[in-house]
Amino acid sequence: MTDPTLTLRRATPDDAEAYAMTAAATFVESYAATTPPEEMAAHLARAFGTAQQRQELADPMRAVFALVDPTGTWVGFTAVAPTPAPPCVRGTRPLQVERIYVRAASHGRGHGRTLLAAVDAEAARRGADVLWLQVWEHNEAAQAFYARLGWTRAGTHPFLMGTRYEDDWVLVRRVAKNQSAEPTTIPPMAPGPPNQPTAGSSA
Ligand SMILES: CC(C)(COP(=O)(O)OP(=O)(O)OC[C@H]1O[C@@H](n2cnc3c(N)ncnc32)[C@H](O)[C@@H]1OP(=O)(O)O)[C@@H](O)C(=O)NCCC(=O)NCCS
Repeated sequence: MTDPTLTLRRATPDDAEAYAMTAAATFVESYAATTPPEEMAAHLARAFGTAQQRQELADPMRAVFALVDPTGTWVGFTAVAPTPAPPCVRGTRPLQVERIYVRAASHGRGHGRTLLAAVDAEAARRGADVLWLQVWEHNEAAQAFYARLGWTRAGTHPFLMGTRYEDDWVLVRRVAKNQSAEPTTIPPMAPGPPNQPTAGSSA
């Protein structure tokens, strides 16, 4: 943790409002400049809202980790789940990084690295053998971040943004064997059908 005033903790359904607010705000910060307003509005309506994030937080297969400041405000978060992986992801126990976002004012301070360390620990705890995520093909800043932290490109996969499909890169990172020694809590996942688009779960 680069900022000792922040706390990294697993979120619970009681965090639904903060999660929904932060997820929507970071999505707007990240993509408003490159997304038509009507597509952004459609995506925000579909993907974010207190009831929806409460449901996500109550899902025992999903883990959301929040980086929280002393006032309780979320600075960033990441969400992982054992969703079916695209065929380009090689592994028997894949775990998806569904989302990883840091508030724009706090980029470049090591928070993304801290959040991915939480992902690594969760992958090890679950006995996952490969981590995967989707990143928009034009999100070069995030791609550079992932490359810096050892992620490599495995393929592409469609992503539903509003009402249109975008191409995402699929990135992967193997979970080191000595990290996955604990008993497993997720079943092996069958690969998803080729080119089945993802809706609202790009990292
Ligand atoms: C991508 C994101 C999560 C990274 O978090 P962050 O806190 O800004 O990144 P960190 O400060 O932890 O950076 C970790 C490492 O990646 C490197 N890095 C981060 N962004 C980089 C960039 N744009 N170009 C090159 N390197 C980068 C840092 O230099 C650092 O390397 P170092 O520790 O060896 O110096 C954050 O910038 C973000 O929320 N972006 C907008 C949302 C987004 O695109 N999310 C991903 C969707 S797929």
